[in-house]
Amino acid sequence: SPSDPDLVERARAAKEKLGDKVFVLGHHYQRDEVIQFADVTGDSFKLARDAAAKPEAEYIVFCGVHFMAESADILTGDDQKVVLPDLAAGCSMADMATAEQVAECWDVLTEAGIADVTVPVSYMNSSADIKAFTGRHGGTICTSSNAKKALDWAFEQGEKVLFLPDQHLGRNTAVRDMGMSLDDCVVYNPHKPNGGLTAEQLRAAKMILWRGHCSVHGRFSLESVEDVRARIPGVNVLVHPECKHEVVAAADHVGSTEYIINTLEAAPAGSKWAIGTELNLVRRLANRYADQGKEIVFLDKTVCFCSTMNRIDLPHLVWTLESLAEGNLVNRIEVDKETEKFAKLALERMLALP
Ligand code: 13P
Ligand code: SF4
Repeated sequence: SPSDPDLVERARAAKEKLGDKVFVLGHHYQRDEVIQFADVTGDSFKLARDAAAKPEAEYIVFCGVHFMAESADILTGDDQKVVLPDLAAGCSMADMATAEQVAECWDVLTEAGIADVTVPVSYMNSSADIKAFTGRHGGTICTSSNAKKALDWAFEQGEKVLFLPDQHLGRNTAVRDMGMSLDDCVVYNPHKPNGGLTAEQLRAAKMILWRGHCSVHGRFSLESVEDVRARIPGVNVLVHPECKHEVVAAADHVGSTEYIINTLEAAPAGSKWAIGTELNLVRRLANRYADQGKEIVFLDKTVCFCSTMNRIDLPHLVWTLESLAEGNLVNRIEVDKETEKFAKLALERMLALP
């Protein structure tokens, strides 16, 4: 259990024994019982940037999900070993785009005569294979904190963007930040022949959005926003851009997890907030600011934790740290060299965005 003092003490002792040999990274969606042991916490962008911050650490324990650990492996030295405390901590959104499906999509774009003017932009929440595809075809990775910069860059390289795999982040960024209209976007459905689109539709589109979504953020609805506004007069609605377009359009503020944290930190006492993102983070922020008189509620009580983020719990962290302290390398995440080469190219393009 989270308050189990024995497990807390075991994690502390194992981490102390490992000393500088271990570097623990924690995504903001992780449980409190885990996040207390993180050397660095952050959103996906910050964790990608900071993964290589401690080159002397032999082990990087990534408290987050599989695609984040893969990205950390790609961006860190060959002698550094990235470890994911539970190998079942995947991401349903990342799983919605496979290498085979994306290769098939590229063939469809080629058939329609638009592949050479299309730049792939892939959300961080994708497998290393998809990142490698992106790098090979001249594209970049983005996260929710730099999606506009990535699209600005991509539209300097070409005329169209293939945005993978989160249709909502792609659409929200195009319409909110880039001045495009909903009609500039089409959705490519990998389960239909030709993505369910005609060549004419593909040629007319500026944004080709992959039909993927986050199973957590996708559950916030327009009714969630309307209900909370009726319940709490004067409430500020702040949501993550993985939410549906209608939710984002009805919200007052939109941004990545790091943006959400900074906004609440700067919020005045007495202000009221409804937050549409993962529950572990919302609860932590509600507790952190309760004594400053900031009222922070979860946007929709029927939405649950991200089940895969939650797989990393204190027992898994203790097992991981104790195994490493005993010299047993467990749950290593290692991307093969060929994939790494092109995925790194795409990730480095993101890190070089202005
Ligand atoms: P950020 O931390 O970049 O906001 O991403 C949210 C997310 O869904 C990670 O899985
Ligand atoms: Fe994937 Fe959504 Fe969970 Fe993030 S919150 S890991 S995008 S399922």
